[in-house]
Amino acid sequence: MTQTETHRQTATQEGPAAHDGLVLQEAPRGGPGLPQERRLVTEVPGPRSRALAARRSAAVSHAVGSSMPFYAAAAGGGVVVDVDGNSFIDLGSGIAVTSVGASAPRVVEAVGEQVAQFTHTCFMVTPYDGYVAVAEALNEITPGDFEKRTALFTSGAEAVENAVKIARAHTGRTGVVVFDHAYHGRTNLTMAMTAKNMPYKEGFGPFATDVHRAPLSYPFRDGVDLEGNPVDGPAAAARAIAVIEKQVGASNVACVVVEPVQGEGGFIVPAEGFLPALLEWAHDNGIVFVADEVQSGFARTGAMFACEHEGIVPDLVTTAKGIAGGLPLSGVTGRAEIMDAPVVGGLGGTYGGNPVACAAALAALATVREDGLLERATALGELMTTRLRALAARDPRVGDVRGRGAMMAVELVEPGTHVPDAALAGRVAKEAAQRGVMVLTCGTFGNVLRFLPSLAMGDELLSEAFDVLDEVFAGAAA
Ligand SMILES: Cc1ncc(COP(=O)(O)O)c(C=O)c1O
Repeated sequence: MTQTETHRQTATQEGPAAHDGLVLQEAPRGGPGLPQERRLVTEVPGPRSRALAARRSAAVSHAVGSSMPFYAAAAGGGVVVDVDGNSFIDLGSGIAVTSVGASAPRVVEAVGEQVAQFTHTCFMVTPYDGYVAVAEALNEITPGDFEKRTALFTSGAEAVENAVKIARAHTGRTGVVVFDHAYHGRTNLTMAMTAKNMPYKEGFGPFATDVHRAPLSYPFRDGVDLEGNPVDGPAAAARAIAVIEKQVGASNVACVVVEPVQGEGGFIVPAEGFLPALLEWAHDNGIVFVADEVQSGFARTGAMFACEHEGIVPDLVTTAKGIAGGLPLSGVTGRAEIMDAPVVGGLGGTYGGNPVACAAALAALATVREDGLLERATALGELMTTRLRALAARDPRVGDVRGRGAMMAVELVEPGTHVPDAALAGRVAKEAAQRGVMVLTCGTFGNVLRFLPSLAMGDELLSEAFDVLDEVFAGAAA
């Protein structure tokens, strides 16, 4: 008997009582009270999800995709419950967003209070304290012991765009350097900065100009140099710098934008020394160094920001995703003299630093601090590393295990080669979902499985998710 069957048999009658059209009469209540369990009561997707999919197909642009075939009814901690009453262990956290847990209690409370107080005034019209408090907090928690400023926005892409605007205003230069495999968003400028064409850029050009791509440090795929030496971090940085100097010219570059651990590109951790060498070169040449910590930041890697693992202090840091426990908020934080360079009124946006999102961010930060989530990220990372290394030791299709803290991944390949196996990654993710575990794929080659559990998840639930993954890898479907 498979675990799926076991879980179906032992499933409780919680969840929807009857299939009454599409309205869920007894929707489970999200938040902390939601049982932290994997529980399957229907096939996946179940009938309600299938009915919603049919409605969606007629109503929602087919250009918007979804990884999972089921529809959410509630979420809490590290689980998502669907409209059919199935409870899934969530290893994706809405793409690294619900790091403090879905509907985390402090976030729910703070949002409720703020909504009752005021939902919006527009900080550019009538400012409010929450925005200032989030700016103070980001100035405090980002690396660097110097005077800082913060500007708040709504999405990660917006934060990245604004970092570029600020760097251009500060330097009077226009060139932007980004890296292979980078992902920075889907707006016009950030599409130009994002490496992968399909599906992010296909048919959407022309793209913003003066964006230049340099080679990244990608330890699993870097191989050896002309003399047969492994391309270590400093060598990879020298390779990138040579490309920039030859193809752009350092004096034309306003900023270098880099993800300290690449997210969508495949959870690539650059070799040690790559980021420090790049930073030093940027500073020698008057270039603003921007760490895009949208995915890797805010406790995810066991440090507040991933660049701390290499001890580097960026000039600007972009944040989003995890910072507000699920509400849309993003920011650019950095050196005061750079942040203050644009003209007054040059930065902003109707919703930037929305008061509800700011209240959520302050509550999320309190949760990280008071619940010891930095330590939890490290502990979850150790658990995942142990499980993934054991999997890699017995399954040659797992070519690489990498990541930092609770931002882990495996790169899947044809055994004994580096040939990407995207089909396998897709099959594993699909089969895992059918067994009650949500896993996301990523990577330029689509062959990476990434693991981003909520930092509020307990060891037992996480271990159960990896038991399921082991079964999936061992099973015929994989
Ligand atoms: C590193 C990085 N930068 C920017 C973005 C864009 O963020 P958003 O989707 O909120 O615009 C993402 C999103 O995945 C990201 O991972």
